[in-house]
Amino acid sequence: MYEWLIPLSYLISGIFFILSIRSLSSPYTAREGNIIGIIGMLIAIGAMLFSSFVIDIKAPLAFILMGGIIGFYSAIKVKMTALPQMIAVFNGLGGLSAVLISFSELLGGSPSLIEISLGMIIGAIAFTGSMIAFAKLQGILPTHAITFKFQHIINLLLIILCTYIFLLFISEKEFEYFLWICGISLIIGITFVLPIGGADMPVIISILNSYSGWAAVGIGFSLSNSLLIIVGSIVGASGAILAYIMVKAMNRSLLNVLLGGFGNQKYSTLKENENKIAKTGNPQDAAFIMENANKVIIVPGYGMAVAQAQHILRQMAEDLQKLYHVDVKFAIHPVAGRMPGHMNVLLAEANIDYQNVFELENINNEFETADVAYVIGANDITNPLAKTDSSSPIYGMPILNVSAAKTVFFVKRSLGAGYSGVDNPLFYADNTIMLYGDAKKVTEEIVNVLEKK
Ligand code: TAP
Repeated sequence: MYEWLIPLSYLISGIFFILSIRSLSSPYTAREGNIIGIIGMLIAIGAMLFSSFVIDIKAPLAFILMGGIIGFYSAIKVKMTALPQMIAVFNGLGGLSAVLISFSELLGGSPSLIEISLGMIIGAIAFTGSMIAFAKLQGILPTHAITFKFQHIINLLLIILCTYIFLLFISEKEFEYFLWICGISLIIGITFVLPIGGADMPVIISILNSYSGWAAVGIGFSLSNSLLIIVGSIVGASGAILAYIMVKAMNRSLLNVLLGGFGNQKYSTLKENENKIAKTGNPQDAAFIMENANKVIIVPGYGMAVAQAQHILRQMAEDLQKLYHVDVKFAIHPVAGRMPGHMNVLLAEANIDYQNVFELENINNEFETADVAYVIGANDITNPLAKTDSSSPIYGMPILNVSAAKTVFFVKRSLGAGYSGVDNPLFYADNTIMLYGDAKKVTEEIVNVLEKK
């Protein structure tokens, strides 16, 4: 009776999703963005339940409940540092859904063969590709690029074969061809992601995310479902834009990432640093130098996330500002941590004032006028070899110019390398003082000293 309400509801929820993405792009409005997205999803689910697709409401309700429980449980259980894996699994499930829907549509007699096949191909690649990405990020498979002989030729041949059988399927409509396309696409997902490794993983996750969106668009066309088309396009476009932003931040090209093989060699500058001695300090020294400083710039990295040091870091910043009138700023590198926006999320969680948080390009010149750079659990994003050593896997990545500060504190547990495996010559610089220990513990001790006086 109210069938006309369904497309209207889809349109409204599509608008909510667009507004949600818009709000999510700034930390000030991200919470609102989440709520707007949840409302959009509730409208979409409600409309779907009352649409003519649903013959018996019990089945979708049971699946929504099951999915909801799994989602709720994972959101609570999964650690912040394991979010990239979780996103990989979710992308993969999106791809798998597209594959399953395409089969049910085809077997149900849908005439939209092109849309169904495209949705299925992209979904199948997203599914196996995401599973490989998950296995790499989780340490089930080696994280570095796994290359194999003739990988580019094999991938190219698979793509040509898949396209050929796809054309056969469109003209001859044989189900067997559809099965072949599905099998080849599942293999392409594997051979495509295996050779990608190291710091390129977040880029490939964004690309797979984008694929799962385009798969939904394909399925949306075959089901004539406007909401799937709108949402799929948002996911597809935002994943692609995010991938572009990341490759730009790492000074790479998208093609270079997609061809794979980057970061599969062990790289070390250890020998050159073997006879050098790094200066060591303690929290008392650090507190003394920082309370007498005019300007301190804090550079958080992956180790801060591991140690969950963001709350005590806010305390340290507040103490320096309020008790000692020090100008304290935070500098964020675009690929600090292990996922886009990782540091922004953690600093926001600790209620650090966003007016004091600056992106690389807006703060890099300020290190020259800073008395202290407090580098907490960060390494690669400060490594000057990215500028000077063309054989290094991080060559070309812009870095935070911490060495320009009068004193640089590195808070970490050892002289060990970061994600890229490249040793950091900055540890041995004249103006560097190493503060060995867990990021949270060291910062707690500094706060104790600052607050005792
Ligand atoms: P990293 O270069 O990985 O360095 C992190 C450092 O934290 C390590 O050297 C480690 O040294 C230290 N650490 C670990 N646990 C700690 C703890 N509990 N307390 C104190 N220190 C601890 O991190 P980064 O500087 O943030 O750079 C990010 C890297 O990851 C880049 O290479 C980037 O390309 C890559 N990457 C980024 C992303 C995104 S999108 N953000 C995704 C994947 C990869 P110790 O072992 O000596 O303590």
